[in-house]
Amino acid sequence: MQEDLKENEQPMYNLDTVRADFPILAREVYGRPLVYLDNGATTQKPLCVLDAMRNEYLNANANVHRGVHYLSQKATDLHESARETVRRFLNARSTNEIIFTRGTTEGINLIASSFCEGFMQKGDEVIISAMEHHSNIVPWQLQTARCGIAIKVIPINDKGELLLDELDGLFTSRTRLVSVTHVSNVLGTINPVKEIIRRAHERDVPVLIDGAQSTPHFQVDVQELDCDFFTFSGHKTYGPTGVGVVYGKEEWLEQLPPYQGGGEMIETVSFEKTTFADLPFKFEAGTPDYIATHGLAKALDYLTDLGLDNIQKHEEELTRYCTQQLKSIDRMRIIGESDHKDAVISFLVGDIHPLDMGTLLDRLGIAVRTGHHCAQPLITRLGISGTVRASFGLYNTKEEVDALVDGIRRVSTMF
Ligand code: ALA
Repeated sequence: MQEDLKENEQPMYNLDTVRADFPILAREVYGRPLVYLDNGATTQKPLCVLDAMRNEYLNANANVHRGVHYLSQKATDLHESARETVRRFLNARSTNEIIFTRGTTEGINLIASSFCEGFMQKGDEVIISAMEHHSNIVPWQLQTARCGIAIKVIPINDKGELLLDELDGLFTSRTRLVSVTHVSNVLGTINPVKEIIRRAHERDVPVLIDGAQSTPHFQVDVQELDCDFFTFSGHKTYGPTGVGVVYGKEEWLEQLPPYQGGGEMIETVSFEKTTFADLPFKFEAGTPDYIATHGLAKALDYLTDLGLDNIQKHEEELTRYCTQQLKSIDRMRIIGESDHKDAVISFLVGDIHPLDMGTLLDRLGIAVRTGHHCAQPLITRLGISGTVRASFGLYNTKEEVDALVDGIRRVSTMF
């Protein structure tokens, strides 16, 4: 009962009600109920997000920041109020610190490009980790090719945890930035980013956190973390595709040069010289996807209403239960066994190829991801060719875990 709850404790949400918000979950594939366990790749969208976007196209569609007319002002209000929703969601100090992008990948490219141009010279170093997604490796390599920066890598142990003791030895007088993932999309490991940030700041080195796999699962507070930059994607947080966010401390964003040029990001333009707009617009060239930012705000409100703590508790329980059940399967090998894990479980069964396992599970209506998960250096470090990955969302159930476990047993008997 409500009165029995401790102060500030919210009731857990009702899974049936929540699932009804995501009509796609009720569909069948190959005549079987869909079991959607590929949330690490993208999440399904609640009706409130779809309705809000449709409604804006139907009733308030116009380009933002440019028109004096009613519709443009309406669309601008929705877009800027979405920025305020993101600010609140991350607990940023100001909306000047919230830049809309196309997603995490563009966010990291933005920081890599602007930070290197503004603050790095040939021979300067960025520290990343052995468990990064390609989107936090390749943008730095592009800068290596362009301006000669060097990349250093924090190694991991066999459980899939960062070797923090090795981090201290990686810092040199040339270290300019640390860029690490909050949560591994392959291993599910939740990295001790607060400690990494503390150690980097002791040496006056700023830190970028790739939050693509953390924001959908637990509360992120950028002020509490004290990170300098943070990125996440709309489509992994139950919002639309094609929109994402870069958070940056205002003092850093003020100093960074623009990423792209075009309309919206300027103050004055002549053929000789351009002066740039104030934050956050300096980093937002061209028409933003204002329908998607509105949809993203609805998704974040949806998560906030359910309670990120409730979502985290539910997904932790599912992950614990699934891990336990999977371990009862013959020849099962879980890849990533940190004690601090998020709603991601990678595994291999005997020598069954991940692609075979994924394809046969699909025929049973179970959607998982297989392969290197855009983290080839990590997969190489683990000495494997890929994994099967089940990743949970706020709407998954224990029955779906049972279906997965049952499916894996059935597939295993075929080999
Ligand atoms: N980065 C996404 C994943 O891990 C696509 O599946």
